[in-house]
Amino acid sequence: MTKVKVALIGVGNCASAFVQGLHYYGSSEGDFTGLRNPTIGSMKPSDIQVVSAFDVDDRKVGKDLAEAVFAQPNNTLQMTDVPHTGVIVNKGPLLDGVGQSTKNVVKISTVPDANVATTLRDREAEVVVNLLPSGAAEATRWYAEQALKARCAFVNATPNFIASDAAVAKRFSETGLPVAGDDLVDQVGSTALHKTLLNLLSANGVRITETYQLDVGGGTESLDTLERTREAKRAIKTQSVASSLPYKAEVVAGTTDYVDFLQNKRDSYFWISGAYFGNSPMQIDLKFSTVDAPNAGSVLFDVVRALKLALIKKQKGSIAPVCAYAFKHPPQIVSLEEAEENFKKFTAQA
Ligand SMILES: NC(=O)c1ccc[n+]([C@@H]2O[C@H](COP(=O)([O-])OP(=O)(O)OC[C@H]3O[C@@H](n4cnc5c(N)ncnc54)[C@H](O)[C@@H]3O)[C@@H](O)[C@H]2O)c1
Repeated sequence: MTKVKVALIGVGNCASAFVQGLHYYGSSEGDFTGLRNPTIGSMKPSDIQVVSAFDVDDRKVGKDLAEAVFAQPNNTLQMTDVPHTGVIVNKGPLLDGVGQSTKNVVKISTVPDANVATTLRDREAEVVVNLLPSGAAEATRWYAEQALKARCAFVNATPNFIASDAAVAKRFSETGLPVAGDDLVDQVGSTALHKTLLNLLSANGVRITETYQLDVGGGTESLDTLERTREAKRAIKTQSVASSLPYKAEVVAGTTDYVDFLQNKRDSYFWISGAYFGNSPMQIDLKFSTVDAPNAGSVLFDVVRALKLALIKKQKGSIAPVCAYAFKHPPQIVSLEEAEENFKKFTAQA
């Protein structure tokens, strides 16, 4: 039986959804409704084991993961209870983990920092999943180095460039390790929905002239984005959405605002304007609501199992089919259909 041992960097809302999901889908014979891929390379969600976790918040450090995932300021949906895991959250070095806007929200622990690479090795972690705030560029690079030292594969869910940075990808390649990133796609994501709508319309002969997508959320991550990565996220999403049109149009897509009472909910607003037969005008004005963190769960389940396959197959560097399937900023963007097909081929060759 193939198992995959995972370390989580950052026990925020995404980590909460991931850990809750492992329990929710924990029975190998269970109901897999809500998952994109119940099985990847013979691995079910029950074959994913979290063996180590790191955070900096006093309400999480030193706690069992089962307790830490529900500690404030996490505010995502509680999908299930999580029984005691036996995994105690370690203190990682802070670096640029909090910004001006989140420094009053995160309570920094005074516990000494763990030796991250040694802990990863001791806990026999195979895949390190980076779930730091999106503004933590320095910390993201630092944890990627710890993964290299501990000889672990690395998943970068943040919009900082790791897998799509040729120099960093080369470091993984030279060390014989796989890496996947950057900026995780959502299972029911606003970017994918936007691209699909544009694809459908342009395939039907509609000439899109202008389109935008605005996101509003209330998790700590939305607050951090507002201060530190709004422009970077907007550039990634705009590039990705624009790539779905076979011609140039006015495209803007990206996170715009933080509304605290939304908690971990996210509202996305789409505006599409174009013309069809005889230059007749058409417009779409749409609102799409989700809870943010659970939207990462199914895709993360797929990525960690796919990287375990990459380890088994001794594949190294940026793993193109995994990056294109699961991330908004892969080293090379391909169409949604091609990404899906290449991922299926990659995971079928186990
Ligand atoms: N659907 C999604 O939620 C989604 C989709 C795409 C990408 N992402 C990315 O996933 C990442 C995590 O999102 P989130 O909503 O869980 O964020 P979050 O703010 O809820 O969690 C971040 C966690 O990292 C911890 N942290 C901060 N600095 C640290 C350090 N130096 N070492 C260890 N831990 C540290 C914080 O205390 C917090 O617990 C973000 O970068 C986000 O852009 C999420």
